[in-house]
Amino acid sequence: MAILSIDIPAEKLPTHVSIIMDGNGRWARERGKERVYGHAEGVESVRAVTEACAEWGIPFLSLFAFSEENWNRPQAEVDTLMELMLDSIHRELGTLMKNDVRLRVLGNRERLSDKLLAAIDGIEAETKDNRRLTLILFLSYSGQWDIRQAARRMAAAGADDLAPYLVTAGIPDPDLIIRTSGEQRISNFLLWQAAYAEFVFSATLWPDFRKESLRDALLEYASRDRRFGKVK
Ligand code: IPE
Ligand code: IPE
Ligand code: MG
Repeated sequence: MAILSIDIPAEKLPTHVSIIMDGNGRWARERGKERVYGHAEGVESVRAVTEACAEWGIPFLSLFAFSEENWNRPQAEVDTLMELMLDSIHRELGTLMKNDVRLRVLGNRERLSDKLLAAIDGIEAETKDNRRLTLILFLSYSGQWDIRQAARRMAAAGADDLAPYLVTAGIPDPDLIIRTSGEQRISNFLLWQAAYAEFVFSATLWPDFRKESLRDALLEYASRDRRFGKVK
């Protein structure tokens, strides 16, 4: 496979890229197929952007895979998405090990099946010493849920710093949040952690979002001037 080189200086690359993967259903509909076909093709994009981040030296990639609100979709679609998740976990272990990728799955575990939880625990344990890239999947996640659970635990501990209680504790905040499919909203994703993130909105539907699209988003990010409230 041709390697797409990246002409961006390392200091202009984000430490943490986060992606709201959107547009699978529309991608399938454009082809006259069921929505699940789009979700399956979306897994290929996950593979491609993971490989690109590992290759380009981006240490954290996080992907919004399933929101708390997505539980309200038709049961058949929810079941398919959960099966796809379980399938991918089983299928991708070898590739993650080969590419030195650590996988973490973050979200509201209470709503996940025991079978899926066991698979998640297994792959997290197997990959925990991998160092090249940390791949984070947000599953059954919402920003408001995260802040709520963190606030509860913070209060119980009598502490006053929220970040250590969020499920993302220890993970740097995203520098860049990309949303695909032309929608320009956060849809209850990383509300607290996105405080100083740069946003790139891409019109590309997720199943078509591959290395080239990620490179375009990184070029856009490299051109931004981040000030963090200061004067430069
Ligand atoms: C993103 O694609 C996948 C999930 C949210 C699980 P969608 O399924 O939202 O696709 P569209 O937005 O309907 O095209
Ligand atoms: C956001 O996509 C959630 C994920 C990508 C997992 P949605 O398709 O659910 O978002 P809305 O409903 O268009 O805001
Ligand atoms: Mg959508």
